[in-house]
Amino acid sequence: MGSCAMFDDECEYLFKTVLIGDSTVGKSNLLSRFAKDEFHIDSKPTIGVEFAYRNIKIGDKIVKAQIWDTAGQERFRAITSSYYRGALGAMLVYDITRRGTFENLRKWLHELREYSNRDIVIVLVGNKSDLDDSREVDIEDGQSLAQLEDLCFMETSAKENLNVEDAFLQMITKIFEIASQKSLEAKENEATKQVLDHERKEIIYVVDEVSATKQTNCCAS
Ligand code: GTP
Ligand code: MG
Repeated sequence: MGSCAMFDDECEYLFKTVLIGDSTVGKSNLLSRFAKDEFHIDSKPTIGVEFAYRNIKIGDKIVKAQIWDTAGQERFRAITSSYYRGALGAMLVYDITRRGTFENLRKWLHELREYSNRDIVIVLVGNKSDLDDSREVDIEDGQSLAQLEDLCFMETSAKENLNVEDAFLQMITKIFEIASQKSLEAKENEATKQVLDHERKEIIYVVDEVSATKQTNCCAS
């Protein structure tokens, strides 16, 4: 974003978002599908942190989405607090063919609430929807958890490229809406402050006049 003010027309907006969820749920493949339209059947576990960018046009604005990806395996994860710092959105991923990855969402949500901003946008994603025959988590389970925790929800397939674009765009658009709302409120606050400043100057001016009169009286007496 450089030095340009938030929501200037010529400005680009940089939104940091993070991917979280158990190992092998498909986080890295969701990212490579979204950022490069690539899928890797034999992808290796992520070690440490990686990230990718993609520019998205929302209305007449360009948003640069910076998406961080880390290891689901605890022993490969980098420092958690720096991973979440400044993140405006999180994609919380489980694998619909492994019930355990759904059960572990509680742990991930707990970590998110501990380390991230209070108003972070969270999208719950049930990945590998192409493997419907091996399904261990019903779509209704995902839906009710999302409702309970007030999250957006979608089932995706990084492999078949189903809903991947939609899931990321939903997250980024929601962040954009919140950021524009905040920017509007900031502008309104600034306008109110200016009115108050102006009124205060007038009051000071009136007070000055009164004291000037008093002084005149004082001198006259
Ligand atoms: P960690 O980096 O260890 O946390 O794992 P990850 O969540 O990044 O998983 P990754 O993207 O590396 O995918 C793990 C395996 O699942 C790979 O073999 C992928 O090819 C496979 N996979 C990912 N997404 C899908 C999908 O939508 N459908 C199917 N069938 N396989 C998938
Ligand atoms: Mg990975």
